This record gives sequence, C-alpha cells and structure tokens, in this order.
Amino acid sequence: MVIQVHTRQRDYDIILERGVLSRASQVIANPGHPFLISDDGVPEVWRNMLKNQYPDSRMYVFRQGEGSKCMETYQSILAAMLAEHVSRNDTVIALGGGVVGDLAGFCAATYMRGIRYVNIPTTSLSQIDSSIGGKTAVDMCGIKNCVGAFWQPSQVLIDPDTLSTLDDRQLHAGLAEAVKAGLIRDPGLFRIFEQDDYLEHIDEIIERSLIVKKQIVENDERESGERKLLNFGHTYGHAYESFYELGAYLHGECVAAGMMTVLKNKDIKERLGKVLAGLHLPVGFDADREKICELIRSDKKADHDTVTIVQVDEIGRGHLESWSQDDIRKGIGL
Ligand SMILES: NC(=O)c1ccc[n+]([C@@H]2O[C@H](COP(=O)([O-])OP(=O)(O)OC[C@H]3O[C@@H](n4cnc5c(N)ncnc54)[C@H](O)[C@@H]3O)[C@@H](O)[C@H]2O)c1
Ligand SMILES: [Zn+2]
Repeated sequence: MVIQVHTRQRDYDIILERGVLSRASQVIANPGHPFLISDDGVPEVWRNMLKNQYPDSRMYVFRQGEGSKCMETYQSILAAMLAEHVSRNDTVIALGGGVVGDLAGFCAATYMRGIRYVNIPTTSLSQIDSSIGGKTAVDMCGIKNCVGAFWQPSQVLIDPDTLSTLDDRQLHAGLAEAVKAGLIRDPGLFRIFEQDDYLEHIDEIIERSLIVKKQIVENDERESGERKLLNFGHTYGHAYESFYELGAYLHGECVAAGMMTVLKNKDIKERLGKVLAGLHLPVGFDADREKICELIRSDKKADHDTVTIVQVDEIGRGHLESWSQDDIRKGIGL
C-alpha cells in the first residue's frame, strides 16, 4: 500500500509492503549513485539485502546506539560521502532504526545544502513514528536532538518483515507510539490493542499510526500548534528518559509511563494501564518527583512559566493545555 504525504518542502510516498526491502532498487526512483547508511545492530541479512542491490555503492556502517547520534559520526559520514564523490544528484539511503534515520537524514539535509534521502526504517518505533515527519538531528553536549533540520525524505520504504529480527523489548517500546496515536486521533487503533492480538495486526497498526502522523504533520509541518499533539506522554516521558542513565529505559517505555502520569481521566487511564501491561510496558516509574519537575522546567520546549501538554478526555481526541509549573507538580502527585 502507498500512503502519500504532502508537505511544503516536498510530496513523497510511503510504501508499506512486506518484502519491499528485497525490491528496493526497483522501487527507489532515480537514486543516482546512492550512498547507503546503516548501523551494526541492523542484522546482516537486511544490510546485505540492500547492499547486494547496489553492488557499486558504499555502505557506511556505524556502531549501534544513541551514543553514535553525535557530531563525530555525522562528520565521519560526511567525510566518507566526500571521499566517495557523492554529488547533488545522488541519494542517501538509510537502513535502520530512528538513530540511523535521524543521523542519515541530517547528513542528507546538510551535505551540499541538501540531497535526496530515502528512509528504510527497520524498528517498530521508526516504522510507526520517526521515519516520517522530516525531523532529522544529532545530539550534542548531552542534549538530545539539539542540532538538526527539517528535511523530508523523498521516499520511505517500510517492510514489516524486518521486524522479525527485533527483540520483544524494542518491538513493544515502539508500539507505545502507536498506542499514543490511537489515543490522540484514532479510537479504532486503540481498540486493536484492547481487543485483539496485536501481533496479528501489526501491518494495520503501522498503517493507522502513519496515517495519524501524516495528517497531523501535513497540517503543521513545523510544530507551531497541532503537531504538538504527537507529544502526548512526552513531557513527563522525556524527563524520565533524562532522569535515568542513558539507555536504562527505551524512549517508548518512558512515553508509556509519561502518558499514565499526565492522564487525568480515570476511565481512560484504567484502560490504558491494561493495554500497556499487555505490551509489557511500564505504567509508572519510581523516579525522584522533584527532579522530574526540574527537568521539565529546563526542557527546551518549556516557556518560562508554562508548558504545553497534551491531554485526552475522550479516546481519539487529544487536545493541548497550558500547564503552570504548579500543575506539573500536581500531575506527578506533589
Ligand atoms: N525524527 C523523529 O521524528 C523521531 C521520533 C522519535 C524518535 N526519534 C529518534 O529515534 C531514535 C530511536 O529509534 P529506535 O527506537 O528505532 O532505536 P535505534 O535506532 O537505536 O534501534 C534500536 C536497536 O535495534 C537495532 N535494530 C534496528 N533494526 C533492527 C532489526 N530489524 N532487527 C534487530 N535489531 C534491529 C539497532 O541497531 C539498535 O541497536 C532516537 O534517537 C530518537 O531521538 C526520532
Ligand atoms: Zn516519541
């Protein structure tokens, strides 16, 4: 199936199809001499599948993990692209999770003032969420995503078969973003998690999540309003992520707990708690609550006095609220 995304920067297709990775070179339009980027946690079976379709291309493989999403790797990739004489008519093809996508996207956005970029996400988080929307970035000075650009891909190829090698913990963490998408925009998507065996509906879950994100991003590419809805659970979630040492909890796990912290509606909270338990995701953390509030206060997205948070009073209808620092404290039970 093809989902078309329309943005001011460019229109592009998301091709969601089992087996599409094995046909990538037939599907990717006019790549010139492509430059491939992946990490060493992406199983060789997938890397070779892509590489074998472009035998004359270099595949740059960096060490897996958030620690690689930094200026040093960014610079090394750009240097490798220069050494390969990558030109403005060539294409960066990213194969991997959100780390590869963010890093490769930022390289494509800035190399020679921007070249084409095709994303092939291989984790649940990247297939459900991070591969579309055009946010690319690296971390610097211990601050996540603080250097980056809005750079839309020219195509996104999603092959759910690649999830077969992903471990359960990563799989479930990514699904937290699908649960979020259901809660803010798509009651039917949330219902899949409540009523069905989600594993049998993984393709539908990816598709519905992408449609939620696509619609929101199309209306608000640069996050001046509606796009903030995608941050449901992320205000407390990001604080949990920073509170614990890097890598202790996955992003989706922190978002799961963050949704539970921020939700006020008792009925929805109870239903969400059951869904998260079914996905083996945390429903809360025993973090230092004062410290969590302090982290939220210092977050780059917070104004001086208020924080825009997302609330859900009816499943499928997220809305924005402006919370004072006092509201933030009350939210976490202080
Ligand atoms: N750009 C956006 O809009 C956006 C949105 C959300 C998150 N992100 C970013 O995404 C990143 C997290 O992405 P992630 O959760 O995909 O993590 P990740 O990219 O680190 O991937 C998780 C692990 O799975 C491995 N892996 C990848 N594909 C695999 C497969 N098919 N089988 C087995 N292992 C595989 C990776 O090598 C890695 O070790 C963070 O840096 C976050 O900031 C970006
Ligand atoms: Zn997220």
